[in-house]
Amino acid sequence: MAETILRVDLLAKSFGGVKAVRDLSFDVSAGEILGLIGPNGSGKSTTVNVLAGLLPPTSGSIRLGADAIEHMPEADRVSKGLARTFQTARLFPEFTVRQHVRMGCHTIRRTSAFASILPFGLVTREQVATDQHVDGILQLCTLAQIADRPVGSISSAQQRFLMIATALAAKPRILLVDEPAAGLVEHERQALADLIRNIRKREIAVLIIEHHMALIMSLCDRIVVLNFGSKIAEGSPAEIRANPAVIDAYLGEAA
Ligand SMILES: Nc1ncnc2c1ncn2[C@@H]1O[C@H](COP(=O)(O)OP(=O)(O)O)[C@@H](O)[C@H]1O
Ligand SMILES: [Mg+2]
Repeated sequence: MAETILRVDLLAKSFGGVKAVRDLSFDVSAGEILGLIGPNGSGKSTTVNVLAGLLPPTSGSIRLGADAIEHMPEADRVSKGLARTFQTARLFPEFTVRQHVRMGCHTIRRTSAFASILPFGLVTREQVATDQHVDGILQLCTLAQIADRPVGSISSAQQRFLMIATALAAKPRILLVDEPAAGLVEHERQALADLIRNIRKREIAVLIIEHHMALIMSLCDRIVVLNFGSKIAEGSPAEIRANPAVIDAYLGEAA
């Protein structure tokens, strides 16, 4: 049995009278790719935002390895090994691709995010190690060829990969990705799937929210399905595809 990296227990989040997430429980194992799916408005992004520390939970607990993190600030969760990407791009267009990934390293360094991109100062052993780490991520995310271009000049698909690369810079044990394939065309989706499989090979677990069903079905080891904030199914892609409650939830969305 693989080690449990993330344990979510009876997690709930309400916005006034809206119960966006209701008593949600699930686990993620080391190196696992877990899909979180459900119709629009079913609570997927809210779940990710609560897990990452952007929103406080209404109730419930979140364990990252041995640590209870549900009341921990977002930055502390990152340094404990939980990193995320956002549904929409949050990038600094005037930075180069390499500088951008470097900024993501600041949680694993003692220096500040901005000190790490300044062109002066001693090259310490720590900086050399950081350079190697950043180069490795640029390779992994197929961004090495465009490492010195400004972020604002690369394609939107490349920007999507850059968001993942920047999150990986913090050396997470689990990466949360919210709709990484939105707006991508088929060959870009395939490249994204390859990237996520390669991330998993590095023993990093991935929790992926995605609307593109073929991508989810081909990529995930296990899938959790939400509807109106509640978990309605959990299982392998084959089990989820055949589950009547899941089919009903999605037929409801199509109507
Ligand atoms: N900041 C917020 N304030 C009020 N309601 C919200 C907020 N964020 C999400 N919601 C509501 O919570 C529910 C779940 O939304 P969300 O988590 O974004 O769903 P999904 O990502 O599955 O499409 C929806 O009814 C949405 O309108
Ligand atoms: Mg969403």
